[in-house]
Amino acid sequence: MKITIFGTGYVGLVTGTCLADVGHDVMCMDVDADKIARLHKGEIPIYEPGLETMVTANVASGRLRFTTDPAEAVGHGELQFIAVGTPPDEDGSADLKYVLAVAKTIGEHMTEPKVIVDKSTVPVGTADRVHATVASTLAERGVYIDFDVCSNPEFLKEGAAIEDFSGGARIVVGTGSEHVKALMRECYGPYNRNHEKMMFMDVRAAELTKYAANAMLATKISFMNEIANLAERLGADVEQVRQGIGSDPRIGYHFIYPGCGYGGSCFPKDVQALARTASEVDYPADLLNAVESVNRRQKSTLFAKLNQAFDGDLAGKTIALWGLAFKPNTDDMRDAPSRDVMEALWAAGARVQAYDPEAMKECRRIYGERDDLVLVADRIQAVKGADALVICTEWKEFRILDFDWLKAQLAMPVVVDGRNLFPPKAVKDAGLMYYAVGRGDSLVTASP
Ligand code: UDX
Repeated sequence: MKITIFGTGYVGLVTGTCLADVGHDVMCMDVDADKIARLHKGEIPIYEPGLETMVTANVASGRLRFTTDPAEAVGHGELQFIAVGTPPDEDGSADLKYVLAVAKTIGEHMTEPKVIVDKSTVPVGTADRVHATVASTLAERGVYIDFDVCSNPEFLKEGAAIEDFSGGARIVVGTGSEHVKALMRECYGPYNRNHEKMMFMDVRAAELTKYAANAMLATKISFMNEIANLAERLGADVEQVRQGIGSDPRIGYHFIYPGCGYGGSCFPKDVQALARTASEVDYPADLLNAVESVNRRQKSTLFAKLNQAFDGDLAGKTIALWGLAFKPNTDDMRDAPSRDVMEALWAAGARVQAYDPEAMKECRRIYGERDDLVLVADRIQAVKGADALVICTEWKEFRILDFDWLKAQLAMPVVVDGRNLFPPKAVKDAGLMYYAVGRGDSLVTASP
């Protein structure tokens, strides 16, 4: 099939590459000429395991091409995927200017019937707005061409996007048209072999499914963080509680790891956007708002624990920080808990000595050169001469640690662990004060 993808960001590039990999003829379009030039050279703008090799192989085979030419892009695919960004507006609602700009481009260059596929995460009702934009652009040109708009949300996790694309639980398509259903079946056929994954539903149900899925997962995390905060105050170990409740198949083990709060490009943005949508239809989304506020508070707990351990005197201290990315296997720092910790530490007059296996370039891009931020080559250098250690991301390479060695490095024996990486007893036996989430020293020192 001939397929066009608008947007070569995370979702667009993964979708285009995976569809080319199973034999489709894919053209990816982006208005960013620099990005397209780099992609032509095989340079991938994001860190995603396996993606670079896959892009290179499919470009070499001729199945994956890149362009900045809108006429060429619209002319190419019978399916036109819209996978551009939907950044949050000031009020938290999703900004649709890029999505609607693509709809206009399609309307301007369309010369034959097309099926437009909304892949970006967009508020309920967006397919109708895309439809209206294309229709009015065609009307301005004085032409009538048949077209359809369907919704096909993605459920990709950063760091496992290729795996999720090929082995995802479901392929949701919102459409009422039999013609669109047949085309989408053909498009995803190679990924729909072992059991039926295609789920056809109404357009609005498909749009809401994406938000509901992310909001549900974010709810599980905030719920568990709330239980962890309670456990801290009640003298219970939340890790035991997690296993106790996860064993019930109705609850399950997934997404109940307490931590320093969820981040990334999806959960914070999507929970806020859904809450915003709710308020637009006069529904008081109390639960969604609580999920968001629990998360905001959770991100501040790392600094609060550190501040408590230092009796509020962090000025002039050097704090080692392990992990900048919002989760392992990505360089993404959007809404990462590390940012809350660093910014609070700087405000308190402390200096940060940080290491992350992938996100240091991104950290430099965000914060630039500053005296109170030193990025070092490995985790060992991060703790050299530091007063205390904070862990924000559960990278595998952080999991094995000689606690006696760590104790010898730190001026104050304080470890604040936002990911519950270590057995509290072993850390404490080495003479360290261990502030984990819902366990460890925090059991006895947290104020009510
Ligand atoms: C998420 C969804 O999983 C994916 O389906 C959707 O398409 C996009 O949003 P992603 O943002 O890549 O994917 O990351 P994910 O692995 O889901 O983690 C999100 C955040 O939740 C991370 O900050 C992670 O640390 C946190 N998390 C996750 C927890 O704190 N506890 C958990 O138990 C699970």
